Amino acid sequence: MSTAKLIYEGQEIELPVVEGSEGEIGIDISRLRRDTGLITLDPGYGNTGSCRSAITFIDGEKGILRYRGYPIEQVANNASFTEVCHLLIHGERPNAGQLDRYRSELTRHTLLHEDMKKFFEGYPPSAHPMAILAAMVASLSTFYPDTPEEMDLNIIRILAKSKTLAAFAYKKSIGQPFIYPRNDLSWTANFLRMMFAVPSETYEVSPVLEEALNLLLILHADHEQNCSTSTMRMVGSSEANLYASISAAICALWGPRHGGANQRVIEMLEGIAAEGGDLERFLSRVRSREVLLMGFGHRVYKNFDPRARLLKAAADRIFDELGIHDPLLDLAKRLEEAALRDEFFIDKKLYPNVDFYSGIIYRAMGIPTEMFTVMFALGRLPGWIAHWKEMREDSSGYRIHRPRQIYTGENLRKFE
Ligand code: SDX
Repeated sequence: MSTAKLIYEGQEIELPVVEGSEGEIGIDISRLRRDTGLITLDPGYGNTGSCRSAITFIDGEKGILRYRGYPIEQVANNASFTEVCHLLIHGERPNAGQLDRYRSELTRHTLLHEDMKKFFEGYPPSAHPMAILAAMVASLSTFYPDTPEEMDLNIIRILAKSKTLAAFAYKKSIGQPFIYPRNDLSWTANFLRMMFAVPSETYEVSPVLEEALNLLLILHADHEQNCSTSTMRMVGSSEANLYASISAAICALWGPRHGGANQRVIEMLEGIAAEGGDLERFLSRVRSREVLLMGFGHRVYKNFDPRARLLKAAADRIFDELGIHDPLLDLAKRLEEAALRDEFFIDKKLYPNVDFYSGIIYRAMGIPTEMFTVMFALGRLPGWIAHWKEMREDSSGYRIHRPRQIYTGENLRKFE
């Protein structure tokens, strides 16, 4: 095993070096404080590996993303979202029999307890659906207590019920009656029907929308230790229950620097269009740090986010298939081109991320802007669960997540 040396005040400390299966090197400082009294300082955790994980691999310099070893491009083109849930959570692709059983388990548990419908009544119509989703997911713990024996069943329950909760939150916001799940439909078709059907009319699920939703869910399914997944692990490390941990992850995702960016991208594009579409004026506001270019930049990718590439290509195809033309798509493409030519973005290695094109596709699908981050949450659910489960089942155990700090406040003083 190779080691790294740290020299501090004449004392030489040897630290073990660990290597991941893709050659990523890390200095293991887990005994640093015990042996030396020192801690490390890394605000924003840009240099900190918080765990070992076998779920998702990203090479941000090369623009590579793999789920359990499979390139995202191949998964996106060949898998169903249900298959990806199995892959991420259980580590392997299901065989045909396993997939059938998994599908039927995921459909058997789509109904909500009837009493939960009353919770929706209390929210004002203007309530953001992310607030409703987070509250409802936490509320599931009151109906389905989290015990170690029921862990697998509760994972199925949340995967199945989350789409019902999301669709009900939308129906509540537009004042329409809830549409109950229909269990002969696929995950995606069932969700689309609960979102868009109305009781008095027949609703045929469009295969174009189903395919588009499948792609979007898969592309959002996991992204290693991002803010919401780290929240999931953080909360889970206190042994809070599965639903509470997911609810916390949903809240973390909501922020505009994370999943909430997809909503902000559309609002930004609408703002630019409303002011006459002057891209140079907008980019000069970004350069002067007045605003951020939403949907751009990433902590890990210093090259194209492969998901953004796939979504850009999919946007053209989906718009063609739906026979839709959205001037915001043209504006987004022009904005991307202008930013990629601009020295400010070149110097800082800022490229479009997953949120740049996703909202434009959701919009074409008829999904309202306020639901975009809910859509991200539905896609990210298997990733959060996979990480929570990986931590809980780690044979070497896990400790409560509890960073230290460098105290910079007052020294001892008297309170008289
Ligand atoms: C997601 O982590 C994940 O994996 C997340 C995610 C997932 O799947 O889970 O990929 C999903 O959250 C995508 C990101 C969505 N957020 C946005 O699109 C919001 C806009 N982007 C940024 O706020 C920012 O780029 C972050 C939050 C995404 C990343 O933040 P970092 O890693 O802390 O980078 P930084 O803020 O330190 O940026 C480095 C420099 C800074 O300038 P300097 O101080 O060095 O001069 O680049 C600038 C930043 O000001 N910068 C931007 C910018 N993003 C970074 N300037 C203008 N517009 C931007 N979008």
